[in-house]
Order: sequence, then C-alpha cells, then structure tokens
Amino acid sequence: MARRQVLYAGGALGAVAVAGLTTANALARRPPRTGADLSSRVRLPPPFQVPLPLPPVLKPVGTTGGIDRYEITQREVTAEILPGVRTPLWTYNGTFPGPTIESRRGRPVSVRHRNELPVPTVVHLHGGRTPAASDGYPTDLVLPDGWPDAARGAHRMSGMHGMEHGAQGMHDPRAVRSRLTRDYTFPLDQRPTLLWYHDHRMDFTAPAIWRGLAGLHIVRDDAEEALGLPSGPRELPLMIGDRAFHADGTLAYPSLDPTLRKEPGVEEPYLAGVLGDVILVNGAPWPVHEVDAARYRLRVLNASNARHYELAAVAEDGRRLDLIQVGADQGLLAEPVRHRVLPIAPAERYDLVVDFSGIPVGGLVKVVNRLGAGRTRDVMAFRIARKATDDSRVPRVLSTDLPTWSRSDALRVRDFSFRAGRMNGGHGWVIGGKPFDPARTDVTVRLGDVEVWRLVADIHHPVHLHLVGFKVLSRSGGAPLPHDAGLKDTVSLRPGESVEILTRFDGYRGRYLFHCHNAEHEDMGMMANFEVV
Ligand code: C2O
Ligand code: CU
Ligand code: CU
Repeated sequence: MARRQVLYAGGALGAVAVAGLTTANALARRPPRTGADLSSRVRLPPPFQVPLPLPPVLKPVGTTGGIDRYEITQREVTAEILPGVRTPLWTYNGTFPGPTIESRRGRPVSVRHRNELPVPTVVHLHGGRTPAASDGYPTDLVLPDGWPDAARGAHRMSGMHGMEHGAQGMHDPRAVRSRLTRDYTFPLDQRPTLLWYHDHRMDFTAPAIWRGLAGLHIVRDDAEEALGLPSGPRELPLMIGDRAFHADGTLAYPSLDPTLRKEPGVEEPYLAGVLGDVILVNGAPWPVHEVDAARYRLRVLNASNARHYELAAVAEDGRRLDLIQVGADQGLLAEPVRHRVLPIAPAERYDLVVDFSGIPVGGLVKVVNRLGAGRTRDVMAFRIARKATDDSRVPRVLSTDLPTWSRSDALRVRDFSFRAGRMNGGHGWVIGGKPFDPARTDVTVRLGDVEVWRLVADIHHPVHLHLVGFKVLSRSGGAPLPHDAGLKDTVSLRPGESVEILTRFDGYRGRYLFHCHNAEHEDMGMMANFEVV
C-alpha cells in the first residue's frame, strides 16, 4: 500500500532538499503547497451530504477548590467518518474531534488524561498560558499499562532511541514520565479564545494527530459575551483537517513504523508534509450545515498536519461573502478586519463572522479552499434553511486589552532560520541549523522581557510559540498582512520570507517550545527550546 503511494507522490522532497534560502525566491512563485498527496483508495462521498457534527461539550466530574476537574480517556475506537465505512481512530473519549472543554477566563481547569492507547502520549493545550509542568513537553510521557518503565527502555521506545538519535545522545534528564494517568492543570489566566489540545509526543506528533488525537478548548469571559456577537447555535467551532483512507477504511499515513512505537518518520516523498485528499470539518467529510439567514460566528481551526487553506465563502451566484475577522489565535482583535479570502496555516485559528442574511432560503454557500484542486477545493457548505430575526452585532471596537508593547520596548532581537537540513545523517528540518534536542536550551529569556524574534523561512513554515502570544511586526521588511492582526501564537512564514514578531515572555518560568506546526516538520527536527528564567 505505502509503496504504491511512493511512486506517484515523488518530487516534493526533491524541490525541498535543495531549497536553501537562496532559492527561496523561486519557491515563492510556486503555489503554497508543502507536502505530497496521499490518495484515498475508498469510495468518497459526494460533497455537502454529511451533516456537520459538533463535538460534545465535556462536563466536569467535579469542582475542588475552585478548579473544575475533567477526565478524558485516550482510547482506540472504530468510527464512521465516511458514510458506511469503518475507520479505527485514536481518540480522546471515543470521539474525533475529542470533546470540547468550555472554560472561563481565570477559572482553573484540571484534566486527568488516562492513556489506554498502545503507545505513550502527551497532551499539549495549544495556545494555553500554562505552567511548564502541564504544558505537554514532548518527553513528559504518559506511559500506557505494560510499557517498559526502565529509563533506558522508555527512552528507546519513546523515540529517543539509539538507532536514530544515538549520535546526538537524545537523553532528556528533565523528562517527567507518569504511568497510565496524568493530571494537567490549566490556570487559563488569559484572553478568551479558541484553543486546541493535541498529542505532542516527541517524533510522533504528526501521526498521532492524524489518527484523531485533537480536540477543542474554548475560553470565554463576560466582556466578550457582552459584545453581542452571534452565539448559541449561531456560534460554530470548525476544526478543518485533511485525511486519506485505505480501501479497508483505515486511515492511510506513510509512517516508517505504523505501530508508532519505535522508528519515527515518514517515507521519503512525504518528508515535506502529508496531504490527504479528504477534507474533514469536525471529523466529517465535506459536511453541510443548515443555518438561519442570519449572522454566524465561525471559530475556525486548521488542524491539518501540513495543508494550507485560502478560505472563501461563495454563494451559488458566484458572489463571495465577507469574512469578518473578529479574533485571532489569542483572542479578539481591537476592531474587525474584513477579508474576501483568508489564508490559514496549520494550527492557526480565525474567529469569523459571516452574514447569511442576503442569501435566499434554500440557497447554498460553499466554503472553498482556493489552494485546493479537484475534491480538495471544497471544504464544507451552509444551506440557508429559513428566514430569522437576528439581534447579533459586530461592534466597531471588539477589545481594548491587547498588549501595548512596541518595537522600542524590545530588549533584544534574535534571529532564527527555519529550513531544510540534516538530521541523524538524513533529511530533516532545522531551526538555526540544529535539529531538536530536548536536552539543549536553545534560548534563555528573562521573565517579563520584551523581545523581537526575526524568523526566516526557506519554504512554508507555520511557526508556533508555546506560552506566549505575539504581534506580527513585519513581513520581509514590509507591513504585516491584514490577517496578521491581533495577538497570535502561530505565524505562517511564506517561502523565502522573513517575519518579525514581538512578544513579552510572561506568565511562568520553565522550559517551553517553539516549533514549526507543519506536524511532519515538527517530528523531523523543527523544534527548539526556550527557557524562561
Ligand atoms: Cu499545537 Cu507545540 O503545538
Ligand atoms: Cu502550542
Ligand atoms: Cu515547517
């Protein structure tokens, strides 16, 4: 199966491997695709037939000392993603996406994760301002029952194994492993926004997310609710992701070791990223959702491993609806920004309001990906079911609590290049020339310091910082793009581009990560540590 895919998927790496910064300009003229296509071998449903699922909202099992306690069991289930097709998945609580946690700003949440999967796991709350001990460091593994616990055995199995990483001595003395369960505590002392949680095991994050280990977490507060944005059934979380399926309904993914136990990595044609030919929203293929002729708030997450989207909402007469952006990765903008087309890279979130009131009842509005081709051009659709009253609004001022740091507050400027490189004698992805090593502190920052980081890319790299939100200051010396507005935690570097970001290292001391969120790049070295002291 996998071999066959290798034959027609070639070419992607060829271009990438030679792509230093000098050839980046040539790459910039190519369409922004990073990765190689996997084709499904199962009959795919026509678009806009399957209803849009909404992930279940998890109820706390209790409250102790003002902390809401949740429990999630990670387990394998078989689910129907494609109509009539059974697909084994790795899930949080048996569903894909996992259950949504809804929380209030400043009200801590603790989640007990229980690992009943056959491999170690680790949970990261993406976008969370979280103490390091609960941030899901890639070696802080939760070992399943029966997994060898001896330090040496555990290191071998967790991916820090002698064969692939021996030369670099990938031993992490600071790793905190636990057996079967682990409690993650999230203070959630942060601006309200859409976060997501996902697996973050060293070397195996990409295939674990692909198998289903991803869920949403929404932080709310009174100020945001008072704005009058569309809410209740008119607020929809949309987790977009691509997948591919074997003829027997199982997920296709070009892992070198499909058990995800020992050898990390993907087959060579996919080193730049794995692209599926089925577009899922909330786990359903090209779904459709019935809406009122009214405004809706769409909370969009690109949970794809490597696929980029340029989203547009198109009515049947070809007219494009405005995408009114009200929020970014890290919460509300100062004021709304109007888009006709919105690029979204892996792990980015956009908080959008779309007004369906001008569409006749019975009409269809398609959400399309202008970067897709054939079936991957469609994402989902909205069917306008009825006329309705609408008392929602999009205020001209959305928030007044955005950080006021400016370039002149920065105590230093650091440079990081994100590009193809060598790792363990093979192809990898490196930051500042180095592949990830959990035992190395790449950057030491002081708690409270404001810094400018200048990030340079060869090809597309969506760069994510844990712990902090940042502002985009510039792109290749010029102004940021309209969708760079607000506070972000992931920024999409385009081929050949250099992007300056401004942040304040705030919140907690400890060891945190920054990395490319193309999940295949992340697994193949494109990750580094910053230590807040
Ligand atoms: Cu989605 Cu290290 O993050
Ligand atoms: Cu993160
Ligand atoms: Cu990358």
